[in-house]
Parts: sequence; structure tokens; C-alpha cells
Amino acid sequence: MTSPAQPYSAADAVRQILDGRPMTPGSAFRASAPVNIALVKYWGKRDEALNLPVTSSLSVSLADLDTETEIAAGSCPDSLMLDGRVLEPGEPDARRLSAFLDLFRPPGVGFRMKSVNRVPTAAGLASSASGFAALIRALDGLFGWGLPARELSILARLGSGSACRSLFDGFVEWRAGHAKDGMDSYAIRLPAVWPELRIGLWILDAARKPMSSRDAMRHTVQTSPLYRAWPETVETDLRDLRGAIHRKDIERLIRIAEGNALAMHATMAAARPPAIYPTAETHQALARIRKARSDGLRIGFTMDAGPNIKLLFAESDRETVERLFGIRTIAVGFPEVRPAPDGKANPS
Ligand code: PMV
Repeated sequence: MTSPAQPYSAADAVRQILDGRPMTPGSAFRASAPVNIALVKYWGKRDEALNLPVTSSLSVSLADLDTETEIAAGSCPDSLMLDGRVLEPGEPDARRLSAFLDLFRPPGVGFRMKSVNRVPTAAGLASSASGFAALIRALDGLFGWGLPARELSILARLGSGSACRSLFDGFVEWRAGHAKDGMDSYAIRLPAVWPELRIGLWILDAARKPMSSRDAMRHTVQTSPLYRAWPETVETDLRDLRGAIHRKDIERLIRIAEGNALAMHATMAAARPPAIYPTAETHQALARIRKARSDGLRIGFTMDAGPNIKLLFAESDRETVERLFGIRTIAVGFPEVRPAPDGKANPS
């Protein structure tokens, strides 16, 4: 009798990518990666072990916010420090990080990791994407693999799906792919450059979210009758968003990003029992955004698996937006664009 084929695992993916690469760590290596915000969201996996998504997604990487990670080889067990705090071996972040490090661990090696989220205040932003992207870059340097960005994107995805997008600047599309082994599921940078696009972080609650996006995603896919409409929604939104980016059409970008975020939250609200992240404060904030828009301001928002809001607007409206909402503005990271002495962005 033949046994059923073993499912392809994260360890298999790592073996395939690192085949023939050095596995003796150097002394220490430091790397960073940007935070990314999805305008068309990743919501739902077709493979949980490999973090393979049901749909593609499209994000922007931020200029001023990133994670910097230093990794060194040492003795077991791992010593992990996050934002100046030593993680206890049993706590969820430590378990998740050590499980990821296990994928690359030579026998008997423990890792010393120090990771700092360079986020100005408690921004209430998910740091797992920039965190796993910075970590895989640091490991690439530590072992001297010299992997291309595409392979690093695949490996970062094994830590957290959205991390595969944090390997790139500017506009980034994560192509869902079809292959069972996930080798065609990675992010690419889109060629568009839009230096006037701005993101405003409106932090309503910086506390840790009660339900991880992993759990909420699984629960939504399994129980929400609205999830069936999600893949088609994403396909249309992606096509429209690529066009809006190409034409630098801010009003269109806002409409698509808002519609997509609200559609994602609608799939969650229809789950049984519902998974609801927005709070009363979130709804009040959304009403203020709608009011500002009806008064003529070109402003919109996106939201992730949490109560906080990311405002979307153009540099020409920055002063008005900051005055109205008291938020901190972040630019999208286009390294080919350097700020001119007058503060405006100039393509170099
Ligand atoms: O990569 P994860 O498991 O943290 O999921 C991210 C999910 C969203 O932030 C809600 C959407 C996205 O595309 O980033």
C-alpha cells in the first residue's frame, strides 16, 4: 500500500531555496526592512503551513518606519530581544520567532537576536511584516547566502504572509501564485513612483489586538458566508488600483483602498461568531473622514486587523489633514526620490 504524499512543508521550501548555500554562520549581521500597508488586502490562506494566500495583494512600503534586526550565532537556547525587552522562552512572540529560526538552524546553534521597531511612538502598527523581512535579510547576511530578493521574499512569507512585501520599497504586489510548493508566491516591486502620496497614522488604540490576524483569517475563511465574494472583489480592486497608481489618480486610489478595507471587515463581521476590530472610536473617526470629504478634502483611509486608521492623501493636502486630524504623516518609501531643500520631493 502506498502512503499518501506528505504535504510540502516550510522546511521543504527552505531546503529547496538554500540547496548548496553555506550553512556556517558568521559572527553577527544587522539588517532592516520597512513597514508595509496594504491598499488591497491579503485576507485568507490557501495553505496555512506555507502562508500561501487565496488572492494577490498590493501594498506601499513606508519611508520612515522599519524594523532593524541584529542576529548572531551563539549557544542554545535562543536569546531574543524585542524593543529592549528579553522575551521569555514560552511567550507567543518567542515561540513564533524560534520556530522560524528552527528552519535555518544548524545543529546545536542558538541565535541571539535583537530587534527594534523604529516606529516613532506606539504606532499600533503590525510589526510582524517588517520584523520577519528584516530577520530574513539578517540571516542572509549572517550565513552569507547572497539570495536574490525573490527568494528572500518567499522565505519571509514563511514567517508572516505580509512580510514577503516588506522586502521592497514603493508599491509592492504579492502575486498569489498557484504552485503547491509556493515557489511562485512572492512579492515584486511595481515600477510606479508617486512621491506625493502620503499616509497618516491615526492611532486610536495602541494596545495589542485581542485576536491575531492569523486566527481571524482562518475563522473568516471557515465561517463567513461573505468570504465567497472576496476573491472576485480583490481581483477587480487590484486591476483598478494598478490603473489608479499608473495615472496617479488619488481619488480613485482612495475609493478602491477604502472599499477593499471595508469589504475585508465585512467578511469578518459576517463570520460566526463575528470578528470585529473597529471600535466606537474607529466609527467616530470614519464619520469625521466622511465629513471632511463631503467638505471637499481629498482624503480616505484603510484599516487592517485592528481599530486604527491609516489616512490616505496627497502632499498638497498635508497641512489641512494634519490640522484637522492631529496625525503624524508618513511618506511612502521611494529611495530614488530624495527630498529637496524646500522639503518637496524631487525625483533624482
Ligand atoms: O501577514 P499577516 O498574517 O500579519 O496578515 C496581514 C493581514 C492584513 O494586515 C490585515 C492585510 C495585509 O495585506 O497586510
